Amino acid sequence: ETIRLLVDKSGDNEGIYSQAVDLLNNGEVVAFPTETVYGLGAVATDDRAVKKIFEAKGRPSDNPLIVHIGSIEDVLNFIEEIPQNAFKLMDSFWPGALTLIMKVKPGVFAPSVTAGLSTVGIRMPDHEVALNLLRKLQKPIAAPSANRSGKPSPTKAIHVEEDLRGKIPLILDGGTTGIGLESTVLDITVNPPVILRPGGITQEMLQEVIGEVILPNKEQQQLETTPKAPGMKYTHYAPEAPVYLIESDQQIVENAIIQLKSDGKQVALLAPSNFHSLGADYFFTFGNEGDQERMGAKLYDDLRACDKTKANIILVTTTSTEGVGAAIMNRLEKASGGKWYK
Ligand code: TXA
Ligand code: MG
Repeated sequence: ETIRLLVDKSGDNEGIYSQAVDLLNNGEVVAFPTETVYGLGAVATDDRAVKKIFEAKGRPSDNPLIVHIGSIEDVLNFIEEIPQNAFKLMDSFWPGALTLIMKVKPGVFAPSVTAGLSTVGIRMPDHEVALNLLRKLQKPIAAPSANRSGKPSPTKAIHVEEDLRGKIPLILDGGTTGIGLESTVLDITVNPPVILRPGGITQEMLQEVIGEVILPNKEQQQLETTPKAPGMKYTHYAPEAPVYLIESDQQIVENAIIQLKSDGKQVALLAPSNFHSLGADYFFTFGNEGDQERMGAKLYDDLRACDKTKANIILVTTTSTEGVGAAIMNRLEKASGGKWYK
């Protein structure tokens, strides 16, 4: 049985935190909010507990987890050689949505955390509940996103409950997450550093602090020589009905809807608010055209909402790949399998 407890901003949450800490110390998993998406956490040194994460999510065991820490100093205990760049990045972006891939000290984490790699991804989350939990626990927490493997990451506690009900004992409900897309994953074991997964901390922001940073394009990502996040090869972020990308143009979208409906399809449209009257059977909006922050924050909730409709095709309008648009388009490429409506 799964319980979901509201961690109220104004209330006294001590009892809730001690329940979570006890569960974690006893080898259980707990879901908690971060500023990006909800995570499903276990003590990062407890291999049996970490294995429960993979089991609950249905996650392939060759996909390593991110380790969350409560203070920058913790890094010294876990990382073999800390590159000079890392200190600058931690100072500038932690706590925050940046995961740094560095060389791990052998044996400090449970083997399933790193999936056999000599590196580990570490980040300090910028969320009161996550930080309180880490500081009360006084141990690192390994946590992937708290969704069933393949589904969009959870941006609300109810998403976690829908995916993992009955599979985990506790969800800390801290409301809707702010950024709504997973952290930027940056490999700083190579020079220049490489973005393995774009996120809320953009290439531009990183470059301001450490100079050149590579963001591989789609073709480069396919190359054997480009470093990869093992997780990025799996289908991801996908609702049940097929997702097609479409240009953010009202005439093009309207024509597509007419065509699809005449083929007997039920169409869900995810688009800016001014696309509301183009005749889609279901309409979800991520706000004003060009508001990428809002689009990123709302995208997964909207994709999940599509699953609750009878739509058998989902059209999503695209955005530019500037700034956080790189992360949005990366997730949309995955959700659609790269399919465009033509
Ligand atoms: O925002 C986030 O990062 C959220 C919250 C909960 O912190 N977590 C998250 O974790 O998105 P997850 O497991 O869903 O994604 C982690 C990504 C995967 O693509 C994984 O392959 C990659 O990071 N990764 C982890 N360790 C790695 C390593 N040592 N080398 C390369 N990629 C790694
Ligand atoms: Mg994930």
